[in-house]
Amino acid sequence: MTETIIVLGSNGQIGTELVMNLRAKYGNNQVVASDIRQTDNAAIKSGPFELVNVLDKENLHQIFEKYKPTQVYLLAAILSAVGEQKPKLAWDLNMNGLINVLDLAVEFKIAKVFWPSSIAVFGPHSPMENTPQFCIMDPNSVYGFSKLAGERWCEYYHAKYGLDVRSIRYPGLIGWRSEPGGGTTDYAVNIFHEALEHGKYESFLSADTALPMMYMEDAIRATLELMDAPADKLTIRSSYNLGGISFTPAQLSAEIKKHLPDFEISYAAHDPRQAIADSWPNSIDETYAQKDWGWKQKFDLASMTADMLENLKK
Ligand code: SER
Repeated sequence: MTETIIVLGSNGQIGTELVMNLRAKYGNNQVVASDIRQTDNAAIKSGPFELVNVLDKENLHQIFEKYKPTQVYLLAAILSAVGEQKPKLAWDLNMNGLINVLDLAVEFKIAKVFWPSSIAVFGPHSPMENTPQFCIMDPNSVYGFSKLAGERWCEYYHAKYGLDVRSIRYPGLIGWRSEPGGGTTDYAVNIFHEALEHGKYESFLSADTALPMMYMEDAIRATLELMDAPADKLTIRSSYNLGGISFTPAQLSAEIKKHLPDFEISYAAHDPRQAIADSWPNSIDETYAQKDWGWKQKFDLASMTADMLENLKK
């Protein structure tokens, strides 16, 4: 079957990389990139592009009608740090954008939908170490509880309408091709750029704040593998935990120093993102992803750091 795929929110940190990989896999013309803004990014411009606002259901309807997609990836969202500055907008976009897409996916009988969740669905009363798939979840960021509510909607549309919607709770994502978009884990990307350009970095998170992170190459591969998995193997229809690599700013900085011995890190005295980070897990259990669709991570802290620096230097 020929797939036609729409990626909503294609210009962001994940979208940019996902469009590239989906086009390599399915052909440039089979993957429609879309966002609320135009872009100069060559990868996005290598195939069809549409201006789309996911909050405008009419607009979305026209695009679905035009392309009759078999798969839709909804990546348009406001992340944790920006979400705290614009709470109502974050709730509106993250929630109503998702519900619009789920509704249209049912109406257009779309074969598969992907929607990303996050480690932000966990909260201060969730177990901090090896956080399990099922546990107490009391997220206290707008982003976090919009993602948790979104997971409930995904599971509901699957149960009620048979919609094949699939999801991953991404750890913080680190890649060299795209910039992060206003999250709490952004430090782990910024640090590489600053290390190479200025030899130093001021971290907005404290030295010992451990968070689960993942190299973009692993995250994209996980997404494609989950989307290729047989539907009857998937026991989780909310969103799958993925473990990633857990490290602190101090540990990442020590790893960077192995390549750039003069690199220096300092720590900001106070930043509102610290409280968000403190409410998230230190590490995550990914047993369900391993068992259901055979997930196996490739990059660890050392190989990710080496690959980031090598590619950014180019
Ligand atoms: N990386 C995201 C953030 O920091 C979490 O999903 O907001």
